Amino acid sequence: MLLGVNIDHIATLRQARYSSMLDSHNVEPCILSAAQAAQAGGADSITIHVREDLRHMQKEDARIVRREIALPLNLEMAATQSMLEFALELCPDYVCLVPERREEVTTEGGLDVASRIEELKPLIAQLKANGSQVSMFIDPDLNQVEASKAVGATMIELHTGCFANNLGEQRQVETERLITAAQYAQSIQLEIHAGHGIQLSNLAELASIPHIQELNIGHTIIARALSIGLQSAVREMRSAIDAIAWS
Ligand code: PXP
Repeated sequence: MLLGVNIDHIATLRQARYSSMLDSHNVEPCILSAAQAAQAGGADSITIHVREDLRHMQKEDARIVRREIALPLNLEMAATQSMLEFALELCPDYVCLVPERREEVTTEGGLDVASRIEELKPLIAQLKANGSQVSMFIDPDLNQVEASKAVGATMIELHTGCFANNLGEQRQVETERLITAAQYAQSIQLEIHAGHGIQLSNLAELASIPHIQELNIGHTIIARALSIGLQSAVREMRSAIDAIAWS
């Protein structure tokens, strides 16, 4: 099981103080140092979400990580013309298309691929021709899995937010939805990643979901890093993932 580490919150903290003076000599924290710490802690890839409103990660952050870090870079972005142009310039290993709404705190809900098939096809074709693998961040819904295949994506990232935010019976329902979606995705040759709301406390329960190859984890690692440091927080998650027998 691979671990992708999302370091967006490092930029969230930086922007809280320095958004109007990013060229200043005293800007902190440093995105590149965070990516290096994640790598040292055992990350298999680095995820950066460059939002259209640039409210945390800047395009230059992604360029620096792309240039300086040997790990695969996963660029999360909205499916828009301007972001497409940026992705073609950056040429990350993976592009994960996500929905974006200005007022949301984080990515809420998966991308509605099924209602945008014709619009997404040419965008995905250009990204693939440019050398990036393309993933759709979707809810565990069979229509969305099927649509992801139809638009030409090679991977999906299953949104685990509803799983993470519920307990008891509803948690079981969400787990079943993830299992069904993963089984279907595997049957139509899509690579499967999962992310959102994954924590040490719910990691083991994800083991019942088959065919997942990579977990994308951000918030909890950065929160934990406040206590034990980023490298240790990534290593802690890495060890917890390694201790589980994945299906
Ligand atoms: N995957 C995607 C597509 C996301 O948008 C996010 C959150 O930015 C994550 C994974 C990571 O979620 P979390 O921060 O809850 O671990």
